[in-house]
Amino acid sequence: CRNGFIEQEIHSLTAEIESLKNPQSLGLSSHLDGLREENAKLKYRLNILKRSLQEERSQCSKTMMNINQRLQEIFGEAIREAWPDLENPPLAVTPNQQAKFGDYQCNSAMAMAQMMKSKGLKVNPREIAEKIQQNIPDNELIEKTEIAGPGFKILHVVVDFSSPNIAKEMHVGHLRSTIIGDSMCRLFEFLGYDVLRLNHVGDWGTQFGMLIAHLQDKFPNYLTVSPPIGDLQAFYKESKKRFDEEEDFKKRAYQCVVKLQSKDPAFIKGWNLICDVSRNEFQKVYNCLDIQIIERGESFYQEKMIAVVKEFEAKGLVEMDEGRKIVFAPGQQIPLTVVKSDGGYTYDTSDLAALRQRLFDEKADIIIYVTDSGQGTHFQVVFAAAQMIGWYDPKVTRVEHAGFGVVLGEDKKKFKTRSGDTVRLMDLLDEGLKRSMDKLKEKDRDKVLSTEELTKAQHSVAFGCIKYADLSHNRINDYVFSFDKMLDDRGNTAAYLLYAFTRIRSIARLANIDEVALRKAAETTDVLLQHDKEWKLGKCLIRFPEILQKILDDLLLHTLCDYLYELATTFTEFYDSCYCIEKDRQTGEVVKVNMWRMLLCDATAAIMAKGFDILGINPVSRM
Ligand code: ARG
Repeated sequence: CRNGFIEQEIHSLTAEIESLKNPQSLGLSSHLDGLREENAKLKYRLNILKRSLQEERSQCSKTMMNINQRLQEIFGEAIREAWPDLENPPLAVTPNQQAKFGDYQCNSAMAMAQMMKSKGLKVNPREIAEKIQQNIPDNELIEKTEIAGPGFKILHVVVDFSSPNIAKEMHVGHLRSTIIGDSMCRLFEFLGYDVLRLNHVGDWGTQFGMLIAHLQDKFPNYLTVSPPIGDLQAFYKESKKRFDEEEDFKKRAYQCVVKLQSKDPAFIKGWNLICDVSRNEFQKVYNCLDIQIIERGESFYQEKMIAVVKEFEAKGLVEMDEGRKIVFAPGQQIPLTVVKSDGGYTYDTSDLAALRQRLFDEKADIIIYVTDSGQGTHFQVVFAAAQMIGWYDPKVTRVEHAGFGVVLGEDKKKFKTRSGDTVRLMDLLDEGLKRSMDKLKEKDRDKVLSTEELTKAQHSVAFGCIKYADLSHNRINDYVFSFDKMLDDRGNTAAYLLYAFTRIRSIARLANIDEVALRKAAETTDVLLQHDKEWKLGKCLIRFPEILQKILDDLLLHTLCDYLYELATTFTEFYDSCYCIEKDRQTGEVVKVNMWRMLLCDATAAIMAKGFDILGINPVSRM
């Protein structure tokens, strides 16, 4: 815009000067000297304007500058300065998607190290990077440079999942969290992330007051002799009844909570005894489902909760509300209660403390919470409060609640036993085992397999089906639990996929081609994909990384199940129309092996195996 004005002015000045040069237009020659003077002044002004136009133009091209290109120039200069003799040094500057590690990155050091190595010079890429850094010329773009470690930074993920409550039952909601959370961990692990699997058990609530009070009454010598409280459920019910009915007991229960939270040894002992009973029960479930998880319950954050409340108070973010201390976060209707009117902490306080610990002590880059969607608001407010106080920036750190729907029975009502009780998880898993054995026997597998193989198949099918049924549905939706459906070996079920997998695996075995031969063939055989079913299978196989990438973004594991099912059916189409092995009709002897097709079988099996692994399903070689 300014350029336009200047240009216009130059234009009119030039015209004026031209007209002054013309003596006819002057009339009076006596004024000629004065006009010459005027002319000189105007010329002078014209030159100033021309110069400022030039400057303006160069400013303009600067703001329109290509940053990437300019950075290339800067780094190119640095490299030339440091290694004047190096011909065509590799120069690569790229924008960095992860703003955390800078906005742009220069990737030359690695490539230069390789280049120098090929010339017999051994230089450490880090030294090269340092030398580039030292030679960066003065420039208008770079605020700060840092040398990144070799390769990629390994991102640290915390997955908070399973997380049942001590002394209360672990229900189907926790089963969902366990299955989904474990699979997310497996995906991150496979993709090279450093994963911390945390079991945020509810082990610090007020319920421990009444449990310990009841423990003291029923087993006065609990400190020396381990009390038989195997049925903790019943024990819980008894103490709850007393808590509701006996005023004295209630009072004592509250005193017990205070003693416990101040970590009085006798109370800690009672608390540990109770936690151990639950822990053993939970572990049985984890063993069945092959779940690795570290217990780090709410109690772990006791001291940290004190500090967190202080931090919020110091920043003036706490309000009083009828004796409670509450925190409002921007955009959130509901406040967090950080201290109750009796001085106790809440689920909100422990989650704030846990989030802080994960961000600052664990230095997590990604934190995922796997619970039912009902807790969505709770996490939303906790995350908003953490951002408000400045603990993390969502553009840099990914903190996310991965919610899931409720588990329904086949009657589409809340999942219950026939008598209306909540289903005990171990009973559920046992029933799965029984039903999968029935199924195997129905198919006469007990006549073909050894006892050991049969038991292995039984476990693989039972637990694989329970997991797959959960994972193959969009977690956001409610999900109907049905043994009949999950054990069906037709359709998108684990049973179908496990059978398909053993079949694919057996193709090579039946053709007597071992692993070594396959590996050799993989190096020397061209896989041409001439048949359209081969082409279709090939296209399906190479989609695997895309699928995983997508799940990394949306944490929806059913996409992987859908993909594996598609892969299995695409494979079947291929296998039905393309001979892998050709046999003599009379003798049944193998006369020809189409090696490239054997390789397609092998690739399919490898991807299925990896897929099962991510889903936490353990396939068997014979079933
Ligand atoms: N114990 C809770 C429950 O049973 C789940 C805990 C989830 N994790 C968390 N950090 N809040 O509902």
